[in-house]
Amino acid sequence: MPEQDQYILQRDFQASCRLNLQTYLWRDSLGYIIHPTIPPLPANGHVADVGTGMGLWLTQLHSEQQKESIRMDGFDIDITQCPPAGWVTHNIHFRRWNAIEPPPSELRGQFDLVHLRLVMIGINNEDVSALVENLSLLLKPGGWLQWEEMNNFDNNIVTVDESTPKTAYHRTPAVDDHRAEGALKGE
Ligand SMILES: C[S@@+](CC[C@H](N)C(=O)[O-])C[C@H]1O[C@@H](n2cnc3c(N)ncnc32)[C@H](O)[C@@H]1O
Repeated sequence: MPEQDQYILQRDFQASCRLNLQTYLWRDSLGYIIHPTIPPLPANGHVADVGTGMGLWLTQLHSEQQKESIRMDGFDIDITQCPPAGWVTHNIHFRRWNAIEPPPSELRGQFDLVHLRLVMIGINNEDVSALVENLSLLLKPGGWLQWEEMNNFDNNIVTVDESTPKTAYHRTPAVDDHRAEGALKGE
């Protein structure tokens, strides 16, 4: 039974479609999956994706690197959107973990690279310090943390003229409902 959480973006079909599209937008916008300043992963490297959602970053990484020897672990407070084991390569694994809780001992100091993307939407301001501390506990000495977020509060859609509707933006129902209620963190 997944732990109850206050995740406002939901985990239904529409939410999964959104994550799928976003992962291509992120890849194309940034131009990389692993930041170019991060050295190549060692042959038997170990990568974590925290707040993995559907495990999309890991599956893209696997497609790009084609290294079966690298172990890739996806963690999320709720893994119901992750693909079943039979649908992913043998070196990708998913596990439930609430990242604001201390990591289990077997995960500590294990990872060459810990990645996060778009996780702050589910994190309370008062939990950020615990999150950062827990992420650092996952890293091997000299390991890397790569973390991607967007500015949720000042984002907008720029159109060529004012008459162009911004339908997609206004149809982000969960976010808009919470905006209207002033319930998003930081509002
Ligand atoms: C917007 S989704 C992003 C998913 C994925 N990182 C991506 O970019 O495709 C945010 C994810 O963070 C997860 N999450 C939120 N709070 C979390 C926590 N405390 N610990 C672990 N995962 C969390 C949510 O369950 C959700 O799957």
